[in-house]
Amino acid sequence: MSLPLPQPADLALTRLARNFIGLDRVDPVLGGGGMRRRVYLDTTATALIPRAVHDGLGAYYQAASANSHTRAHRAGHATTEAIEATRDRVGRFVGYDPAEDVVLLPGNGATGAINFLARALFAPELRLVLKRFRDERAADVLRELLREAVPEVAEGLDELLRRPIVVTTRMEHHSNILPWVEAVGRHNLRVIGVTADGRLDLDELARVLEAEGSRVRLLAVTGASNVTGVLNPVHELARMAHAVGARILVDAAQLAPHRPLDLHPHGMPADARLDFVALSGHKLYAPGSRGVLAGSFAPFERRACIGDVGGGMVEYVSTEDFQVKDEITAREEAGTPNIPGTLSLGMVACLLEQVGMDAVAAAEEALTAYAMDRLRSVPGLHLYGPEDPAARVGVFSFALAGVPYGLVAAYLDDYHNIAVRDGCFCAHPYVKELLKVGPGEERDYLTSLAAGDRRTVPGMVRASLGLYSTRDDMDALTAALSELARDRDRIIKRYRQAVDGSFTHEAAAGARHGAAAEALFSLDVACACLK
Ligand code: ALA
Repeated sequence: MSLPLPQPADLALTRLARNFIGLDRVDPVLGGGGMRRRVYLDTTATALIPRAVHDGLGAYYQAASANSHTRAHRAGHATTEAIEATRDRVGRFVGYDPAEDVVLLPGNGATGAINFLARALFAPELRLVLKRFRDERAADVLRELLREAVPEVAEGLDELLRRPIVVTTRMEHHSNILPWVEAVGRHNLRVIGVTADGRLDLDELARVLEAEGSRVRLLAVTGASNVTGVLNPVHELARMAHAVGARILVDAAQLAPHRPLDLHPHGMPADARLDFVALSGHKLYAPGSRGVLAGSFAPFERRACIGDVGGGMVEYVSTEDFQVKDEITAREEAGTPNIPGTLSLGMVACLLEQVGMDAVAAAEEALTAYAMDRLRSVPGLHLYGPEDPAARVGVFSFALAGVPYGLVAAYLDDYHNIAVRDGCFCAHPYVKELLKVGPGEERDYLTSLAAGDRRTVPGMVRASLGLYSTRDDMDALTAALSELARDRDRIIKRYRQAVDGSFTHEAAAGARHGAAAEALFSLDVACACLK
């Protein structure tokens, strides 16, 4: 039988996948294992970076290092051009339409982007009204008073008081819950639950949207979970939100690295469009944690200075007054930007465009199915989330019977040089739901937490894939976990748990996160060239 010839897209993907920095590391491990290749399975927290991006940044600093607000010399000009090119590349990556969408680069990661959108939709000076007054009559009285006293805010206030509800879900990262709590108050937030296998409860969402109707201003939902990898049907959700006149924000921090993203999906009805997407550079192979908010520019047109005020965003300043620039991107990104983070993201968008996100998704789907098969072969392992690999991206949270989650993570690092993450992954409500943490257990660990004891905080272990991940990586993880399951009692005895919840091996007491971490990287060693 002849094998199919590799397609050009697959070749480009293979070339990119093999060219990430840090894939070729070997480190010493405990337990007589000698030196082990590092297996990086914590991509969901922060992805490794392509060598091309590292080298591209070097080329930028060599040729054009400058401030993007300086137009007086070629390097400043090149820097500004590269930032604007990044905006366009990232816009193309999310399928934007420059006639109606804008790409903003606000703050750190998706957290910065979502907080910015929350400030745009719910002006901080009016939030107090929303958060304070639960009684609609009180809001009506206030509206009338303000309409008389400050007519210029009346339109915005009307909209805000009529449509103050944000609908979000229990499976969100905290970054897509807390900005909305801060914006509208808990009483104006509706949190949609999940099914037993961790999927979004679409029936509950339909019921809430029907009950709240035109009071809903926004549906804020993740595209893919950072805990179970569950994919949400974002365009179907968009249609549900638009049917009640609400907008939709997709937190695409975990979707974008794994699947194609399209603000205006071709071949779908117009109401399936996404209004806003938020991305995190560091989850998308770009160092520097750049935040991206892309989508309709309508909410940013009405108000200026949603973000910071300061340099670069003004035409004119006196001590009495200032005049902001017309262009949204110029006036909403005050100060010298995070230039390396921005350019890295632009380079990643170029690389992923060449490879094609369809090719990335196809490769990952196959690896996800393989990984789930392998993980299920580990005795005593419970994998959270849906059984169907097609329902998720390559993010796997699990528990190993009889072994605390923190110990599993420490063991994988100490004995096998396998990097995973443990805990609640900044998604406490979802993790507690999946773990079925009851009110009694929650009360108990909150009491311990208040006393500074984190040992009983519930959590999981998470392994996550990037486009450099391989079957060998999953085989290494499976073999390591099977060994732990087999030798559980012997290995557990070797670890001590500190009051902060971390586990330390007896052979490295006090050193695991001190000397060991310093050995991997140290500022002094990096700066030793002057000694
Ligand atoms: N909240 C990030 C995660 O999912 C860091 O790991």
